[in-house]
Amino acid sequence: MRTQVGIVGAGPAGLMLSHLLHLEGISSVILENRGRDYIESRIRAGLIEQWARDLLTETGVGARMQREGMFHNGVYFGFGGALHYIDFRALVGKGYGQQEVVKDLIDRRLADGGQILFEVTDVSVHDFAGSAPKIHFRHDGEKQELACDFIGGCDGFHGICRPSIPATALTVFDREYPFGWVGILSESPPPEGELIYAYHERGFALYTMRSPTLARLYLQCAPDEDIENWPDARIWQELQARIGGTRSLAQGAMLQKGITAMRSFVVEPMQHGRLFLAGDSAHIQPPTGAKGMNLALADVLVLSRAMAEFYRSGRGELLERYSATCLRRVWKAQRFSWWMTQLFHLDPTHNAFDRKRQLAELDYVTSSEAAGRSLAENYVGLPVEI
Ligand code: FAD
Ligand code: PHB
Repeated sequence: MRTQVGIVGAGPAGLMLSHLLHLEGISSVILENRGRDYIESRIRAGLIEQWARDLLTETGVGARMQREGMFHNGVYFGFGGALHYIDFRALVGKGYGQQEVVKDLIDRRLADGGQILFEVTDVSVHDFAGSAPKIHFRHDGEKQELACDFIGGCDGFHGICRPSIPATALTVFDREYPFGWVGILSESPPPEGELIYAYHERGFALYTMRSPTLARLYLQCAPDEDIENWPDARIWQELQARIGGTRSLAQGAMLQKGITAMRSFVVEPMQHGRLFLAGDSAHIQPPTGAKGMNLALADVLVLSRAMAEFYRSGRGELLERYSATCLRRVWKAQRFSWWMTQLFHLDPTHNAFDRKRQLAELDYVTSSEAAGRSLAENYVGLPVEI
């Protein structure tokens, strides 16, 4: 098999890269080790930044999001027993599940004749230091080789692309947090049209939503927590204690529940020869700032433009600058995600001084126009510079 760009992983990064390349007239093949049903129902991110909403719409995969997603014009920060609204004014974002974005992109890629091979196994990447990279894999048990000009390493944090680069060529910047999140999806209406980030002495809680009848809720928990320790009744009790003081919570059937670990991680550079890492394969952050999927889309926008310039003019400058271009924005999103995380969470290394400092900062960002504007600018998404 031969294609121009071989892509490992059919998450938001891999699918959007393939879609954007197609619009530039560049061929690609996506190799995904999971089945289509699995990736179309994997519940993860839920908030789409304003520029990313425009990207989905302008490239023809945003119709269902526009119809079914929920607009957000601001967020609530809950602390001291009251809700404080931060108005984003004209800077709107959109609530729409990541699995829905994945479904829309798969539908569009297949309708455009794109090739996505699901349930491939034994994927390995080769010869990317030279000009003729190859990807080896098995499909339906048969050994195959995909020859290509470039490889898109879009296979997430636990993928094989990043570990295939010599460790001496990479620098890792890493931080683990002493807490995690219990996340649930509940068949119940949200108490407010906007998200509620709640600071509480029992720990952080977040109320967000996927539709007028489907709520997504998160609770801070221990980092090594076992979901077995969180029966439904305990979850509702904690949510009621942490958020319920400000609004009454409707309880519904729990459709899904799980634990998410909190980690900040960046690898530099995001490229080695003709292998380009994009999305979670290069960087992850705690979900408090809702940046993961949005960063994945920003990386592949930069990468698709650089590849398009290469095929159009033979010039490789944008490709050479890919990592540096992405990392400027990645680090700002890392900073924001870290900042939101340390602002809201109960941290065992904190003392009474830190709790007072957190409350003062919450008071500041909800009462100062300048601070609120800075928060809104980062939350809604910094511009993607190419
Ligand atoms: P992924 O979505 O991880 O896609 C990678 C793909 O590669 C997967 O389909 C995987 O099956 C495939 N793959 C892996 N290894 C191989 C291999 N060897 N061969 C072939 N295919 C392979 N972000 C937010 O913004 N807000 C949130 O609320 C939020 N919640 C999250 C909750 C959880 C539990 C997790 C894990 C993440 C969450 N994130 C959230 C982060 C967000 O989901 C990710 O940033 C986003 O999925 C990144 O997209 P991606 O395409 O880079 O990686
Ligand atoms: C979500 O909708 O899942 C979500 C929204 C905002 C966050 C984290 C998760 O900060």
